Amino acid sequence: MKLRLDKFLADMGYGTRSGIKKEITKGSVTVNGTVTKKPETKIDTEQDRVCFHGEEAAYEQYEYFMLNKPEGVVCATSDRRERTVLDLIEDKKRDDLFPVGRLDKDTEGLLLVTNNGELAHRLLSPKKHVDKVYFARVRGTVTDEDIKQFSEGMDIGDEKKTLPAGLRILSSGEISETEITIREGRFHQVKRMFAAAGKEVIYLKRLRMGPLILDESLAPGEYRRLTDKEVAELC
Ligand code: URA
Repeated sequence: MKLRLDKFLADMGYGTRSGIKKEITKGSVTVNGTVTKKPETKIDTEQDRVCFHGEEAAYEQYEYFMLNKPEGVVCATSDRRERTVLDLIEDKKRDDLFPVGRLDKDTEGLLLVTNNGELAHRLLSPKKHVDKVYFARVRGTVTDEDIKQFSEGMDIGDEKKTLPAGLRILSSGEISETEITIREGRFHQVKRMFAAAGKEVIYLKRLRMGPLILDESLAPGEYRRLTDKEVAELC
């Protein structure tokens, strides 16, 4: 990919475009070992070696983070009042990252944060039916009848019934624990499906989205970059 030197450095988190332009004209940047004072210099991201104050700046077109979203933060890129999932990711380089899909403020678990729009579209498109697996603790006894209802698709008050969903009972009683697999991403879908079955979700955590599995060593609020293998499986 080819792009301007100042954009290259801004994308990699070296500062604002105007600050970077000043640094370039001051002579703080080399391209292939030669000081380059023109911000508009075209850089080939695969071939050229760019150094900022002597430190090599490798170009990454996309960043991918797995966040174990804690409760109490919102899935947005910015918010005037609330803390967002992007506020939690401190060592990001790019400023065009966004969360792939929405978890409710009180939902925990797997959230992919990236700037790869094409991948996000593929994971979220209703036509692609990508599995999303959740752990749900609910008030009420979950029974085989619920499994049947979930598997047939449910009327949750939308124009169309939901697609068939998988429900596994982990424990059943006054409070039941379940694993649920849905293939869409409707608003409050899991909570509304349980509500339609007469139960209330009291805790919800996403465990998996397509091939991406929550790394259980991440405490709520912690994150890490995806491994190359995870990126390859997603892409
Ligand atoms: N379904 C819900 O009800 N809430 C979420 O956060 C995700 C799926």
